[in-house]
Amino acid sequence: MITRTVITGTGHYVPPRVVTNHDLAKLMDTSDEWIRERSGILERHHVDEGIGTSDLAVEAARRAIADAGIDPATIDFIVAATLSPDHYFPGIGVLVQAKLGLGTIGALDVRDQCSGFIYALSAADQYIKAGTYKRILLVAAEVQSSNLDFSDKGRDMSVLFGDGAGAAILEPSSNGDGRGVLSTHLYADGNFVSHLWMEKPSSKDRPTFKPAFFDEGRFFPKMEGRNVFVNACQRMPEAVRTALEANGLAVEDIDTLIPHQANDRISLMVAKGLKIPVEKVVRNIDRFGNTTAASIPIALDEAVKSGRIKRGDLVALTAFGSGYTWASALIRW
Ligand SMILES: CC(C)(COP(=O)(O)OP(=O)(O)OC[C@H]1O[C@@H](n2cnc3c(N)ncnc32)[C@H](O)[C@@H]1OP(=O)(O)O)[C@@H](O)C(=O)NCCC(=O)NCCS
Repeated sequence: MITRTVITGTGHYVPPRVVTNHDLAKLMDTSDEWIRERSGILERHHVDEGIGTSDLAVEAARRAIADAGIDPATIDFIVAATLSPDHYFPGIGVLVQAKLGLGTIGALDVRDQCSGFIYALSAADQYIKAGTYKRILLVAAEVQSSNLDFSDKGRDMSVLFGDGAGAAILEPSSNGDGRGVLSTHLYADGNFVSHLWMEKPSSKDRPTFKPAFFDEGRFFPKMEGRNVFVNACQRMPEAVRTALEANGLAVEDIDTLIPHQANDRISLMVAKGLKIPVEKVVRNIDRFGNTTAASIPIALDEAVKSGRIKRGDLVALTAFGSGYTWASALIRW
């Protein structure tokens, strides 16, 4: 009997403070109209000082654990995805482990930015199929707001991103009902590193933190928005098609598509590129902004809890982001 990875619980958490487009318009030369039109975002959540990425991850993890109805002591591995760890090192996996009191289980940190959740899901899926681990906590979390440039200079980036976390509990199933992760597909093209990156701090510099870099704003993330847009609109549909082909399925078989919530215009272009009805596409960027690795598990949790995703449905995930990295996954729910 084939062993598949099933998701037995999901959860998400966003910090309570809501930041609207109007709030941002008080800080920089932007407007609610510009942000809505170009991105579909109305508001996002920002943490208050003192709250780190692992704190959001822990809250989302607690909710996924409760949803799965499991004893946390039975979790035997953690895979954590973020581009915004609490510290330069170590990653958030070990902090999540300690804060949840999960003994000495291993914690793998994944750094694939907006594609992080699918990369992490793929790694966890292999461990489970191989029989290495039996109950994995998969968590993706981001605090973007503490390092965005809220001046006019950084307005192309700072209006798009939000803070949040999503989590899932993964377990093996061999009961032959066809449910579980069908396949994952991971891609990267490192020639585009500088099109979406945070260049500094860099191990190439001595010292790593030069005061001039602060003055030049080089510790802020930067993006070639148009290039990201074009590549995202091409790569996500491509990756979904590859996943469908690998499983002998067609676009019509998809019940729910969850694209990384990069920009609502990108999600609509992905729907158009795949010729999938827009009603099948989960779009919640209006309330959360782009939460990078956390966007897919947040959307997944909302879609499951609202009853939009039902047992037996075919769910497609796809993401694109810094690296560039992109990915897809098919799950029989
Ligand atoms: C960033 C993005 C929304 C910009 O939209 P766009 O349609 O390319 O923007 P346009 O080129 O029409 O407009 C750019 C103009 O708006 C201005 N602008 C940028 N940000 C602005 C803001 N927040 N408010 C007002 N004006 C802004 C620019 O300065 C530029 O002005 P100029 O023409 O005088 O130079 C779009 O490129 C995008 O969504 N890219 C992908 C972003 C993304 O998803 N990143 C994460 C990937 S995981």
